Amino acid sequence: MHDATSRTTRTNLDGSPVGAVAHPNIALIKYWGKRDEQLVLPYSDSLSMTLDIYPTTTFVRPNGGRCDQVILNDAPATGETVARIRRFLDLVRARAGRTEYLTVDTRNTVPTGAGLASSASGFAALTVAAARLYGLDLDSVALSALARRGSGSASRSMFDGYSIWHAGRGNGEEGDRSSYAERINGDALHLALVVAVVETAAKKIPSRDAMRRTVQTSPLYRAWVESSAKDLHTMRAAISRGDVETVGEIAEGNALGVHATMLAARPAVRYISQASLTILDCVAELRESGVGAYATMDAGPNVKIICRHSAADSIAAAIELLGVTRSVLVARPGPGARLLDDEQ
Ligand code: PMV
Repeated sequence: MHDATSRTTRTNLDGSPVGAVAHPNIALIKYWGKRDEQLVLPYSDSLSMTLDIYPTTTFVRPNGGRCDQVILNDAPATGETVARIRRFLDLVRARAGRTEYLTVDTRNTVPTGAGLASSASGFAALTVAAARLYGLDLDSVALSALARRGSGSASRSMFDGYSIWHAGRGNGEEGDRSSYAERINGDALHLALVVAVVETAAKKIPSRDAMRRTVQTSPLYRAWVESSAKDLHTMRAAISRGDVETVGEIAEGNALGVHATMLAARPAVRYISQASLTILDCVAELRESGVGAYATMDAGPNVKIICRHSAADSIAAAIELLGVTRSVLVARPGPGARLLDDEQ
């Protein structure tokens, strides 16, 4: 069990801003469903690749006011976006024993809420910046456990390359301490993700609501959790030996499996659209013609195609020819969340 006991160090509460940058991650073994919604404790372990595209950059500074203010892409954020960030900052303040409210100025280059992991990069960057500002001295694993409370998938964006988020054991404090992410070695795996963006609007059903409905009503959910544990075990071995095809096959099965659990929820949660199906068909055809291409999808209609580095550009070109995408990008393993002054 990781000891997430926090020590405090120098704060940045003199008014100067603290900046951090983080990248989204895409799960190869999905996280779907919480056993504790408040603590964000998942039912199963998940495994992801941090991307080298779509960074989120976040600056925080004390505002001297009576509540936190949030500026998202140069405009004041409202509603649930702000409420969620305030709840998260309340938690960070409680940990640090501080009371000062902040202005959070965040710039997302990934479309927000479209199933492209904007909450992962967003909460990872915010965690790193706010922890420094309030003087919390946490290592990356402890930061991942804290980021988890903002958005589960954010825990994995703390690390470069590949990481596993452990579901942990038990509930309450035991669960909170045992559910964190850590980096795994993927040096042998030369994997790329072709990100096929078909929709940039925010999703109709937020992932939090969709997860709850799936857990509560889908008769397939338990079976997926069980098969996911086996998937993770087999995938770890495939990652260590650099076996892109096995990683891709397992990732595709795991993702389609989780979407099947959603389709069986009542009422159904359906993120797969016509455009997604067109791309899934193309991926299957590419594979029949001997190209190693495997699909994964998250809480939205966008499709990410897992392949070798060497095949990524030709797969991206084939997807573009379908005429159903807004953009097609090639991503490779990217860096973990970091303070901006770490770069100097
Ligand atoms: O952390 P959230 O609430 O954004 O959950 C996202 C879950 C998926 O992206 C669908 C899967 C995953 O493991 O990232």
